[in-house]
Amino acid sequence: MAVHTADRGRTPDDVITATALVKTYRQGTAEVRALDEVSVGVRRARFTAVVGPSGSGKSTLMHCVAGLDTVTSGSIVLDGTEITGLSDRQLTRVRRERIGFVFQSFNLLPQLTAYENIVLPVAMSGGRPDRALVDHLCEVLGIAHRLSHRPAELSGGQQQRVAVARALVARPAVLFADEPTGNLDSRAGTEVLTMLRRSVDDLGQTVVMVTHDPAAARYADRVLTLADGRVVKDEHTAPATDVMGRRR
Ligand SMILES: Nc1ncnc2c1ncn2[C@@H]1O[C@H](COP(=O)(O)OP(=O)(O)OP(=O)(O)O)[C@@H](O)[C@H]1O
Ligand SMILES: [Mg+2]
Repeated sequence: MAVHTADRGRTPDDVITATALVKTYRQGTAEVRALDEVSVGVRRARFTAVVGPSGSGKSTLMHCVAGLDTVTSGSIVLDGTEITGLSDRQLTRVRRERIGFVFQSFNLLPQLTAYENIVLPVAMSGGRPDRALVDHLCEVLGIAHRLSHRPAELSGGQQQRVAVARALVARPAVLFADEPTGNLDSRAGTEVLTMLRRSVDDLGQTVVMVTHDPAAARYADRVLTLADGRVVKDEHTAPATDVMGRRR
């Protein structure tokens, strides 16, 4: 599959359209090009993995398209909004309303129960949690029976699934995950990857996941490989179907 250029491979169904992204960092007198003319579109309701060697720009790309960091030049349209050039305040709002994050460290608040952690972002933005959605998510994620427990009473895999539920409950346009299985053993990692996959197949969620792990990347519909700040490979995998012809 060809690497997307500024003009190819886009459809109106893209939830992210990034064009000619450049991000440079100054290190002393040297300049590091963390992103070097990256153009890529991400379709809705798909699972995209971003892989590549350490230092290739994976986290930088994710942080820029998620509005956590700014680019040096280029354009990012996220869910219909051009986010380059937005003020910090506007970016905060875009992040809060349209983006969910899952990080390697689960970032749950230890004094709150799993349920309280899940609904916290909605509560903080003045909303009221949609109880039916929370129940459905917890059912899908297999944590419905653990909701009254605090993070310390949960396994790593359960904590990460709580973090996934927390990210999904605000119905983000895109869920970004940076090494979501990095702190988990392989079994818990498999559980979390299965849940991310189900959020795409069952809930129509768009997921973009940064990972070092080729096995984790196999859960995705598409694998973008970065090297030296560029997209060097863009592979679309045929969606696996079960005997009933359903997606995985
Ligand atoms: N704040 C910063 N200041 C200076 N250079 C930075 C900064 N953040 C990242 N870089 C540089 O930009 C390049 C890309 O970094 P990035 O963190 O995106 O890589 P990565 O692919 O996520 O790596 P890893 O797999 O190790 O997480 C690297 O050369 C890195 O040293
Ligand atoms: Mg990284």
